[in-house]
Amino acid sequence: MLERIKRTASFIQNKVGFEPETGIILGTGLGGLVDRIEVHAALDYADIPNFPVSTVKGHHGRLIFGMLGGRRVVAMQGRFHHYEGYPTQEVVFPVRVMKMLGIKRLFVSNASGGINTSFRVGDLMVITDHINLLPNPLIGPNIEELGPRFPDMHNCYDRDMITLATEVAEQEGIKLQYGVYVGGTGPTFETQAEYRYYKAIGGDAAGMSTTPEVIAARHMGLPVFAVSVITNCGLSDEPGDHEDVQRQGAKAGVQMTLLFERMIAKL
Ligand code: HPA
Repeated sequence: MLERIKRTASFIQNKVGFEPETGIILGTGLGGLVDRIEVHAALDYADIPNFPVSTVKGHHGRLIFGMLGGRRVVAMQGRFHHYEGYPTQEVVFPVRVMKMLGIKRLFVSNASGGINTSFRVGDLMVITDHINLLPNPLIGPNIEELGPRFPDMHNCYDRDMITLATEVAEQEGIKLQYGVYVGGTGPTFETQAEYRYYKAIGGDAAGMSTTPEVIAARHMGLPVFAVSVITNCGLSDEPGDHEDVQRQGAKAGVQMTLLFERMIAKL
């Protein structure tokens, strides 16, 4: 695995000749952030050796290198999900490659269903902690060069970056919610009983991604900042709908883009 990661990273390095400082993973309907990037190079996942290929509507599948907020970034436009059939070890492969490319921190976004009843569709929730219900991506032989066998998960989401987000949001007039993200396998949206269960165990939002990538990033010692766009309210009587998730994601994505860009400029 380590060899695969290194080979992929050196392929990319040779191809783009650009060392990013910050990695960004863009979730469903949130790819709009790339319009703010002064693009230096873009690679289709299909053209990167060893990269899985994304199959979900709304996920373009490109790695974009360029400047955002005056900083060097690499953004994943489209991510890999366990529900597409990839083991979580494969889902986190690009995160490990981005670390090899030199990133010092990771920004993550996703679309999720609100289970905190004070949340509204279109809210941005800063993830303060998570409950991982997906297979742990670190299962298997530990790659010692990347991190320890038993990584600590206290303050998984960087406190300083959360504080910075709060400051930036105040300056820019962005409303933020804060809460615990529950990562499940999907691809079904939760039953009403499952949403109630997620709430009972301490969750504020439900999604199908993020926790594997965050675990892999923390294993490698990368500070992480993550935001969920609340695209539906799980405990309401409305059924979940992928098209709606994409639409709501696009709207709230404008605010999320502003937040990420302003934060990155201040790091
Ligand atoms: N559950 C899981 N994943 C989601 C949801 C949801 O309600 N909304 C958007 N992604």
